[in-house]
Amino acid sequence: MKIIAYGIRDDEKPYLDKWSEENPDVEVASTGELLDDSTVDQAKGADGVVTYQQKPYTASVLDKLGSFGIKYLSLRNVGVDNIDADAAKRNGIQVTNVPAYSPEAIAEFTVTQLMRLLRRTNTFDRKQANGDLRWAPDIADELNQMTVGVFATGRIGRAAMRIYKGFGAKVIAYDIYHNPELEKEGVYVDTPEELYAQSDVLSLHAPATKENEHMINDKTIAQMKDGVFILNPARGALVDTDALIRGLDSGKIGGAALDTYENEVGIFNTDFGSFDKIPDERLKNLMKRENVLVSPHIAFYTKRAARNMVYFAMDANKSLINTGKSDKLVEL
Ligand code: COI
Repeated sequence: MKIIAYGIRDDEKPYLDKWSEENPDVEVASTGELLDDSTVDQAKGADGVVTYQQKPYTASVLDKLGSFGIKYLSLRNVGVDNIDADAAKRNGIQVTNVPAYSPEAIAEFTVTQLMRLLRRTNTFDRKQANGDLRWAPDIADELNQMTVGVFATGRIGRAAMRIYKGFGAKVIAYDIYHNPELEKEGVYVDTPEELYAQSDVLSLHAPATKENEHMINDKTIAQMKDGVFILNPARGALVDTDALIRGLDSGKIGGAALDTYENEVGIFNTDFGSFDKIPDERLKNLMKRENVLVSPHIAFYTKRAARNMVYFAMDANKSLINTGKSDKLVEL
């Protein structure tokens, strides 16, 4: 049996080597390159493909995998929004993901960024770099005095809720699916509008779907509290960036922490050499603001997550090849 792993970073390689040692019945090939039209031929002869990437899995790549007889594609990440589902289905390609490599990694980062926003650390860092060590006017807010609205209570949303509660915040949530434990605690509001109206902080943890594209827009921002803080470690597509910028300009939005961005493909996880060379004016507009924290999709990026992404995806792919089954199969 042969599995090829694409996009293997230096920090993932030791985990892949260890998995390979522990699974001598599997021939493991790997490349640092991402899976696309220019690299897909390297999969010829493999029984399964393991990969992760933020850029799309296109129809032409999936058609090629199909033509090589490859039926098993295992993603090392959670989100499956960048797969051409029709192409995967028509090629009979089964897809697995890793739904829980470390929900805590993303939750901890989200709250870290919120605390940075509330304590104005970006502003103080910038002032200090210029020798300005004064306090005023950058007085902070306290999380224990705030209501945090969590949009979507999957594993990551729930991990974030536990931390918010630890800080003493009031936590409310909206989701179409109600988690039974949270239901008992009475945290759910009935509509997104109620969540917007009551939250000082809005913490987004939903996967990207057709239905929720640009759910944060001019209309929904108008329904939020004045000075709301918006956190998006989930998917860039949830937020209409132009509306966000308008909300920040007017002061309606008090701050934002964006670990995802709607045009991040080809931009995040790239070294442009200088700020000026980043080829996206809207992103630079956001990055220049003291009350906006942009991070290049790094909330997931921890040692535990990297290990689990490799191990769980390789296990899932091997299981698919051996049995045609996996507990991580995704319905596309
Ligand atoms: C995911 O797991 O879906 C993420 O967003 C992180 C990733 C792009 C590695």
